[in-house]
Amino acid sequence: MNEMNEPTGGNEMQDNAATHPVIAIDGGSATGKTSTAAGVAAQIGFAYVDSGSIYRAVALALSRKGITESDDPRIPDELESLRIRVVPEGTRFEVWVDDVLIGDEIRTPEVSQASSRIAVRGDVREVVRELLRGAAHRGPMVVEGRDIGTVVFPDADLKLFLTADVRVRAHRRWLDLVRLGREIPESEVERDLTERDARDSGRQHSPLRQAEDAVLFDTSAGSLEEQVARIVRMWQEHEAARDGEQ
Ligand code: C5P
Repeated sequence: MNEMNEPTGGNEMQDNAATHPVIAIDGGSATGKTSTAAGVAAQIGFAYVDSGSIYRAVALALSRKGITESDDPRIPDELESLRIRVVPEGTRFEVWVDDVLIGDEIRTPEVSQASSRIAVRGDVREVVRELLRGAAHRGPMVVEGRDIGTVVFPDADLKLFLTADVRVRAHRRWLDLVRLGREIPESEVERDLTERDARDSGRQHSPLRQAEDAVLFDTSAGSLEEQVARIVRMWQEHEAARDGEQ
């Protein structure tokens, strides 16, 4: 079973329409989505949701049961019995699986690969999609992922699509891993990113692609602060235009 936090619980929120504003930030692996989304959310007072962490949490839970391949026949039953919760905590959301709070253990290269393998499945994607749509009923949020502007929230108020040079991305992810105490050659990190992007873009269900109405951002150069400030301005302009229409 998968559910939102109390008090409503359950999979009650199945409709597409978010009742609060959503800013969707999509893009390939390590294009800067997390820092950008968190920065924008903090500045405009929205909650920040990292949808990849839910895929990672599901992948970790499955791998602890010996399931690491996407065609494992046990997955539907396991999905049914896993208790996944996305719980608001201050300005972000925590992911809990079977009453265990998920932390940095999902940030390993092994979980990165496992999450991208299970994310090709329609049933896994449906579970995550419902959790995200449920979260949108709680308040305004900035959501980052691969299919947020195309599939999860096609009516999002603002959509961004981030790209960056693969070398820059590999270096960023390598630094993240070093911070977590993992020493992996940068070339291996680059291979992992390229492989995951190819799988994410080539899959049948909700492939990674830029929504037609998403604004493209190349994050290879320029500072994070500038990038966040630009998106905040876009949001303010969007709000002003909407207020003008009313
Ligand atoms: O964003 P992050 O790298 O943490 O995501 C881990 C994996 O989860 C991705 O490689 C991708 O396969 C999957 N994912 C997805 N759709 C999303 C977010 C993540 O398929 N909206």
